[in-house]
Amino acid sequence: MPNDTTQDAHLTLHDSRTGREFELPIVNDTVKAMDLRQIHAHLGDFGMMSYDPAFKNTVSCTSRITFIDGGRGILEYRGYPIDQLAERSNFSDVCYLLFQGELPTPRQSAAFKTQMTEASVLPEGIENVLAGVPRDAHPMAVLGTLMMALGCHEPGAKDVRDGECRRIHSLNLLAKTPLLAAMVWRHRINKPLIAPDPSLSFAGNFLKMVFAEDESYEVDPILERAMDVLFTLHGDHEQNCSTSTMRVVGSSEATPYNSAAAAIAALSGPLHGGANEAVLRMLAEIGSVEAIPAFMEKVRNREAKLMGFGHRVYKSYDPRAKIISEIAKEVFEVRGRNALLDIAVELERIALEEDFFKSRNLYPNVDFYSGLIYQSMGFDPAYFTVLFAVGRMAGWIAQWDELMADSEQKIARPRQVYVGERGKTVPG
Ligand code: CMC
Repeated sequence: MPNDTTQDAHLTLHDSRTGREFELPIVNDTVKAMDLRQIHAHLGDFGMMSYDPAFKNTVSCTSRITFIDGGRGILEYRGYPIDQLAERSNFSDVCYLLFQGELPTPRQSAAFKTQMTEASVLPEGIENVLAGVPRDAHPMAVLGTLMMALGCHEPGAKDVRDGECRRIHSLNLLAKTPLLAAMVWRHRINKPLIAPDPSLSFAGNFLKMVFAEDESYEVDPILERAMDVLFTLHGDHEQNCSTSTMRVVGSSEATPYNSAAAAIAALSGPLHGGANEAVLRMLAEIGSVEAIPAFMEKVRNREAKLMGFGHRVYKSYDPRAKIISEIAKEVFEVRGRNALLDIAVELERIALEEDFFKSRNLYPNVDFYSGLIYQSMGFDPAYFTVLFAVGRMAGWIAQWDELMADSEQKIARPRQVYVGERGKTVPG
């Protein structure tokens, strides 16, 4: 871990069991959990550990990819503020930034796009995997299935300690995930996948693969821009549940395809990426502005959750939610106002004024308005989290690559405090 804070800073611990004192070095506002091991109640015991269910206060790595200041609502990729990236860059360049560490020059950008185009071909036979998958299966389950199937065609991906192998398969994952995602949609509506169009942007090409009936399809520039910004906003978010899953599975030297399938599974849950779908269902269930007070009563009584609110790290407004509410206005101008918007706006207004939410620092997160935009663009709520996964793949592979190159990392393997019975005898 880099030692870039106050020299000789330390934490003094007094163990009342033994009367001994310990000095633990403080680096970057953390103490190393392994430094606790020197603290023994009696000779020969294992040494002290830290107890942290759900990793609420545990740092698992150092990282140079994404910075979040949850108190002040700041999000940066490789040092660039998210609002500037959303406004002045594009998702393909943001993928390059996340993975390579710097924004590309125009030449690097063009070369990267060419490499992505070359990798945008699915192995033959992968569509056959869909033959046994019900059309109404949840799209995230289908995406995970296709990711595992893709891995079956990539035996060379097992050399995960080799940087060049990681580069090839990271590019492959970035380029092929939108194809898999489009395939998930087309399977759902019983239509064959159409070929990618390399003349289009990442977002434009994706929209065409999803919605085109034939080659005459023209991508609406407002929707293309909205999709691009949404992918950018979802690109990375440091050690969230699915990214940690990618790292944990990757730490066992599993292939990136298997790790990505696990990350997709983690993202699918309604407390994580699945929240965008859950918000839409919640808004539809509330049904009208008049019904909001009754719903809020349920939230206060803990009979319901206000989906799309709250965050483990942000204790102020999620900066992504701010950008999304601006994008929503542009999309609604083209597509008409989403009927559920009034309910969402009123929910937000009430929540931001109520003590229950204020005292717990609960603000809208990235998922609160994104579903409304996706629905207006023509996506079905069950598919929303797949869109999240297409954007987040950039962060997953950047974080996986960083993990594999980090000499301090080993297989992830937390400990436990055993509280069950012991020493029983099996009858007989
Ligand atoms: N509605 C009502 N109460 C809430 C909510 C909510 N959405 N979120 C948190 N709380 C309450 C919670 O009951 C607890 O109250 P108390 O201290 O009285 O027991 C307090 O706020 C702290 O919540 P927590 O559950 O300890 O916080 P956490 O950091 O473990 O969970 C969270 C974070 C995002 C899972 C949670 O806020 C939540 O379930 N939100 C709704 C689901 C959601 O929108 N998820 C998307 C997250 S952002 C994008 C992503 O990660 O994919």
